[in-house]
Amino acid sequence: MELKGQHILSVKDISLELINELFQVAEAMRPYAKRQKVSRVLEGALLGNMFFEPSTRTRVSFGCAFNLLGGEVRETTGLSNSALAKGESLYDTAQVLSGYSDIIAMRHPAAGSVAEFAQGSRVPVINGGDGPNEHPTQALLDLFTIQKELERQGKSINQLSLTMLGDLKHGRTVHSLCQLLSLYSNLKIQLISPEALAMPSEFVDILVNAGHQVEVGTKLEQGLPQANIIYQTRIQEERFKSQEEANRYRGYFRLNKQIYFEHCQPNAVIMHPLPRDSRNDANELDNDLNAEPGLAIFRQTDNGVLVRMALFACILGVENQLKKYERDVNWFTGLRNKPQV
Ligand code: CP
Repeated sequence: MELKGQHILSVKDISLELINELFQVAEAMRPYAKRQKVSRVLEGALLGNMFFEPSTRTRVSFGCAFNLLGGEVRETTGLSNSALAKGESLYDTAQVLSGYSDIIAMRHPAAGSVAEFAQGSRVPVINGGDGPNEHPTQALLDLFTIQKELERQGKSINQLSLTMLGDLKHGRTVHSLCQLLSLYSNLKIQLISPEALAMPSEFVDILVNAGHQVEVGTKLEQGLPQANIIYQTRIQEERFKSQEEANRYRGYFRLNKQIYFEHCQPNAVIMHPLPRDSRNDANELDNDLNAEPGLAIFRQTDNGVLVRMALFACILGVENQLKKYERDVNWFTGLRNKPQV
């Protein structure tokens, strides 16, 4: 598989063929992720998990994915806790950390920083988010989730009608997802945001040039009725010039049960890259949706582990050796394997 030994820096480097192969491997990871089996295929391998910007699920799921394959994880979190704060260059940091690791996952607040880091690395580097630029593994897990959710409804990706909602200007997850969706054609994509937070034209053009039917709007209700998948996003307040400016959009689009039942298709799927902003004045995805079967946000985060396990296995060239290093689980796993909504 062409992923062996490769960096994952941008979705631009990812082909449809590669996605299909990767998703097959991700599916094969399910018994290990659900603790039905253990695989020690990466025993002895080390992941450098370098997160220079806040993260919960990307950082932990990278670590969890590596551990589930038998590898060990070494982490650093926060710029101020690293020697980058003392003026060390990304090149030097990469030279050092790649001497300690077999593979590195990295997040950094500056666009292009992970690619710059990769130039100094002696091992493969995976981009866990570089500022407002890209979040390729999130886009892969989002696409995997879209496919799985449509399959649950007896549909294929060709029947996708997707509404992206919220801060489409700063959201790196939607920028990366648009680029992956451009590998398909003739999908229906609705882009709904406050006017000032519209999807940058380069990504709209990518979708249009791929042959998708693209509609751009500013009203929540405008994007909901035709969507079988709704992808809500957070106002990315850390990307605004001032907090006052960000506050103008806090709570701009709130999705709750009443709006869901009034405007959405029955069984419409709700996704969100998370974190959702649950503060009272934001409440972009209300807790009253938590018990709705259409709310896929935690199936989405679980899928992140499968996709990241598949990436590690393929990049390190062990995707065909999982069973050779497999054994039974010897602890109680009953509660965590209860079916999710
Ligand atoms: N989706 C995502 O990137 O979440 P974290 O910021 O918690 O990693």
